[in-house]
Amino acid sequence: MNRPFARRLAQIEPFRVVEVLTRARQLEAQGRDIVHLEAGEPDFPTALPIIEAGRAALARGETYYTQAAGIPELREALSRFYYDEHGVDVAPSRIMITPGASGALFLLSLLLVNPGEGLLLADPGYPCNRNFLRMVEGDGQLVPVGPEQRYQLTGALAAQHWRDNTAGVLVASPANPTGEMLTKQELQDLLHVCRQRNGYLIVDEIYHGLTYGVKAPSVLELSDQAFVINSFSKYFGMTGWRLGWLVAPEAAVPELERLAQNLFISMSTMAQKAALAAFAPSTRAILDARRDEFARRRDFLLPQLRALGFGIPHTPAGALYLYADASRFTQDSQRFCLDMLEQHGVAITPGLDFGRYRAHEHVRFSFTTGMERLEEGVRRLQRVLG
Ligand SMILES: Cc1ncc(COP(=O)(O)O)c(C=O)c1O
Repeated sequence: MNRPFARRLAQIEPFRVVEVLTRARQLEAQGRDIVHLEAGEPDFPTALPIIEAGRAALARGETYYTQAAGIPELREALSRFYYDEHGVDVAPSRIMITPGASGALFLLSLLLVNPGEGLLLADPGYPCNRNFLRMVEGDGQLVPVGPEQRYQLTGALAAQHWRDNTAGVLVASPANPTGEMLTKQELQDLLHVCRQRNGYLIVDEIYHGLTYGVKAPSVLELSDQAFVINSFSKYFGMTGWRLGWLVAPEAAVPELERLAQNLFISMSTMAQKAALAAFAPSTRAILDARRDEFARRRDFLLPQLRALGFGIPHTPAGALYLYADASRFTQDSQRFCLDMLEQHGVAITPGLDFGRYRAHEHVRFSFTTGMERLEEGVRRLQRVLG
């Protein structure tokens, strides 16, 4: 059989961080000691009360399909969560459970973007977004952002870059790879531009809960017309359970359900039952303590990297990353990361994963490993670069 695979495959880029991780694991299998500063997932195992709730659901034989939009109890729990955290009433009917934020991003690409259209995205930004858009024959319309805009897409930039075929704006706050957060005013500005241009605003709030000393505002505090993506992966520490959610304007829900029925039939039943335990005060106390540990790690790693000569102009408000200008060391961050891994046993992610704008001069460090390993990573970097 020599029939080629579908043409769309040519446009889908690899998620390079996964490739770095794979190579790092290969080296480890050969006996090398690798400091992992590349992974985008919390290193803590899922909190025990969540695991126990999942286990109990299995023991009760709850192994059947659930509603395509998710189990009502979890949608209600999330509705209460929005009231408690943000003081907003979000009807459970507007909340859909999805297979991770990834599933939500794909659903929204299908719902909102016609072939030939696109969404404005910050460059650097989360790499899979552009690929989801390509899968629906659309495009990520990349807007270069730098330290001047705290690496975020502002209302002014959105207005400036808006094209005839722009369906809306997709931002993440706090963002991957930069950890930068949008203020309430900045969200308001984006809403204003989207309203003016009759486009959609999608805010990926996956790193909510992982902000350090500040609280991230939700766009839901400002509008019931924005789309919100979130996940149990990061703050809730459930990456492998594959569970997220999205909040949509009421009118979009039946359409999203139709898509979800066809694409997924149902979310993981066990994961949904487990997630119900995530909101208990005793579980939240565990998760908040982990957040505080991430803050300590950020506060350790940031000055160390700056002292080495990496450019990190702002202290990121949240997420799990430091996005660093490495131009003092390289104009080829891919090569740089490969050398760091192969020669010095430090795994970091090349900027190229996150876009094009000055990507060859940037790298992303994750603080998703314990303090001792971070110290070891810094020692190794000092040996080479210091
Ligand atoms: C900004 C952003 N959005 C979405 C995702 C997807 O997360 P998940 O599908 O695990 O919820 C990630 C994962 O790293 C991310 O960084």
